[in-house]
Amino acid sequence: RLLIIDFGSQVTQLIARRLRELSVYCEIHPYQNVTDAFLADFAPKAVILSGGPDSVTREGSPRAPQSVFEMGVPVLGICYGQQTMMEQLGGKVQSGHGTAEFGRAFVTPNAHKLDLLDGWFANDKEQVWMSHGDHVSQIAPGFEVYGTSPNAPYAITADASRHFYAVQFHPEVHHTPNGAKFYENFVKIAGFTGDWTMAGYKDQAIAAIREQVGDKQVICGLSGGVDSSVTAILLHEAIGDQLTCVFVDHGLLRLNEAEEVVKMFRDNYNIKLIHADESDLFLGELEGVSDPEVKRKTIGKLFIDVFQKYANEIEGAEFLAQGTLYPDVIESVSFSGGPSVTIKSHHNVGGLPEKMGLKLVEPLRELFKDEVRALGLELGLPQSFIGRHPFPGPGLAIRCPGEITREKLAILQQADAVYIDQIRKHGLYDEIWQAFAAILPMKTVGVMGDGRTYDYAVAIRAVTSVDGMTADTYPFTHEFMGETMTRIINEVKGVNRVFYDLTSKPPGTIELE
Ligand code: XMP
Repeated sequence: RLLIIDFGSQVTQLIARRLRELSVYCEIHPYQNVTDAFLADFAPKAVILSGGPDSVTREGSPRAPQSVFEMGVPVLGICYGQQTMMEQLGGKVQSGHGTAEFGRAFVTPNAHKLDLLDGWFANDKEQVWMSHGDHVSQIAPGFEVYGTSPNAPYAITADASRHFYAVQFHPEVHHTPNGAKFYENFVKIAGFTGDWTMAGYKDQAIAAIREQVGDKQVICGLSGGVDSSVTAILLHEAIGDQLTCVFVDHGLLRLNEAEEVVKMFRDNYNIKLIHADESDLFLGELEGVSDPEVKRKTIGKLFIDVFQKYANEIEGAEFLAQGTLYPDVIESVSFSGGPSVTIKSHHNVGGLPEKMGLKLVEPLRELFKDEVRALGLELGLPQSFIGRHPFPGPGLAIRCPGEITREKLAILQQADAVYIDQIRKHGLYDEIWQAFAAILPMKTVGVMGDGRTYDYAVAIRAVTSVDGMTADTYPFTHEFMGETMTRIINEVKGVNRVFYDLTSKPPGTIELE
């Protein structure tokens, strides 16, 4: 296994991700915990020193244990990791002097060949991502230069005989397009064969949960989404009946969804599940509310109150399990900088554990969405469940612009079910990132049979996206749209008009509210 010593960079987790993409098992440990004894016990096959916000020139700044360099294993230092490596091996680091570099840079090769750079420099230069104030001013004995950038004469250096590599840039980020190749070479040099799998991760996560929780009781909030479902099933495998799930049903779910979720967890997985059917409470509080932010805040607050009420009834609970993913953990989007405004205040259960005096269990904290899906498959969840489109916490409330009524909700649920059925029947579901129907806050006139109608209008929406941050409208054919319109109007009483939402994001958002 590979050890990543974390010096606090915002992108350390991305290193782990790159390695996992190569099926290499790695662990990230904060530098404070990596002692000589820890290293001897861990016995890494290779070590990566991450970047970090500190300056090597500051007295008392973090270092790697010197024994890292005495184990005879390959070591890769990145950014801060590069600088401390140089300094610890006898080189020098300087602050400032106008050599800071932030953003895109191009590294050009020196004449020498280096195993780490196999497949690099196809065009005589490589785009990389820099983010540093300090720079190495003198390399350590035994090191040679293999690549330079305008502001980093020591962008790539190495002591090839000892397999020590030091780079100033961040090969793990997206803006170093060929970075994956870089890591591929590094793990090959270290002798990894890429045999680590999600099954391995599952076993490790289960062991970690058992160690953390011991014989205590755990509560898990279940929404029916992929993240909380995978969390619950993983915990159930680890601790069985010590887990109780609370499924807060706010009455704003899709058609039959609540029943399906309850059935799946009780029947298929035999998980202890409290179905908190509080739709009357939620819909009551939402009566007359039409402002989107007030809707979100109302639902978010009630959700916490209700969850707390049910959780308090579970005796001896000491832990709260949450399906927090890695992207939720990154505080700010790395490198993008700048303040961001709140477009929509997504509701979550933040603050709940402190309020209830519970400790957190977050077994998905290191995973990205696609990895959570892979883990879900590993745990036996069906592909049809794993591949479901994202569904927002406030549910149908934000697909019903304006005031929410039970009548509108029932129409919306049915229209949505018909629309999604159409998409599935045409084999389009997996091509679309998110699709749903919304009910518009108006009635329009129509004619059906020989009579006049005055009914609701439904909007259908489908987008492609990578992460929900931007989105394109899915290009349905006219035939598909015509057939869908006919089916919705014929099958759903109370609808006499269907609109197709053409708006991309930006300028629109994915949800209507
Ligand atoms: P927007 O509408 O902001 O949606 O373009 C981007 C993604 O986020 C989901 N979404 C939410 N998820 N609580 C959630 O948990 C919310 O309040 C919320 N609002 C939007 C939306 O479904 C889409 O996938």
